[in-house]
Amino acid sequence: MKRLLVLALAATSLFAHAQTYPGSKPVSIVVPFAAGGPTDRVARDLAEAMRKAMGGTANFVVENVNGAGGTIGATKVAKANPDGHTLLLHHIGMAAAPALYRKLQYKPLEDFEYLGMINEVPMTLIGKPQLPANTYRDFENYIKANSGKLNIAHAGLGSASHLCGLMWQSAINAKEAMTTIPFGGTGPAMNALVGGQVDLMCDQTTNTTGQIEAGRVKAFAVTTAKPLSKHKLLKDYPTLQEMGLKGFDLTIWHGLYAPKGTPPAVLAQLNTALKIALKDADFMKKQDGLGAVIVTDKRVEPDVHKAFVAAEIAKLKPVIDAAKQFAD
Ligand code: MLT
Repeated sequence: MKRLLVLALAATSLFAHAQTYPGSKPVSIVVPFAAGGPTDRVARDLAEAMRKAMGGTANFVVENVNGAGGTIGATKVAKANPDGHTLLLHHIGMAAAPALYRKLQYKPLEDFEYLGMINEVPMTLIGKPQLPANTYRDFENYIKANSGKLNIAHAGLGSASHLCGLMWQSAINAKEAMTTIPFGGTGPAMNALVGGQVDLMCDQTTNTTGQIEAGRVKAFAVTTAKPLSKHKLLKDYPTLQEMGLKGFDLTIWHGLYAPKGTPPAVLAQLNTALKIALKDADFMKKQDGLGAVIVTDKRVEPDVHKAFVAAEIAKLKPVIDAAKQFAD
């Protein structure tokens, strides 16, 4: 009888918590990169759509906690109070970090509750405006002719831009690793590229489309297996496979996470709000314009998203291990 009473009380308090959640206390969406980059962009657009999805009462705030390729922000959320008021919006770095950090302060599959996947975003290889190349062929020849003299920007070990850079240098059999210049995110990295302080970068279309269109950077190729034929601007750039890099296929995905132990009723509310937000007309329009593809398959379900990340961890480890010489 006593056990039944305890269970009933627990269920009541869970239900009550869910009924009052999120209440007036803000819900922080931690972005583990600097403001102004692609991850930050997705988070701010999604926060607005989720606020609407929860009836306009939820106060979602984006909190940028950058450093160490996104692992500092991810660690903060892994260790946060699991009350539903601290979430993490992250990306493929959740799957890349285990292969790059010997002492990761969190376990991607054990220390988080998975809320669902958000989108998939292609990447573009871009260069500073002064780079003496206009086609991908010229670009690759220039890089090879200046081996050891050029630098590549990224957002820290395990970031999407870092992962793309090491995969691409490995795929072109670069004689020696380029000098890598890490930033708190590809927002600040893009400023350095536009200003000519760094030579090149691989970054998500959500951050590069506007700069390419404005002619502030040069674009050479996209990293997806198939051309981005539906995008008015990106359709003009070849895939790396078309440029001879067999099997090169890199798309960045974003997902939403909460600390392990967040109440199931709160998780269910957040997953429902996420599903509604992904169908928000304004969010869809913004994502489409930036070359991002909103997830419409089962990966929006927490367990499917988690299984997908587990598979990505297994897939990326040999890829990263094989390109370790370019991983600095
Ligand atoms: C990355 O390279 O992981 C992201 O572009 C970082 C960011 O969102 O700034």
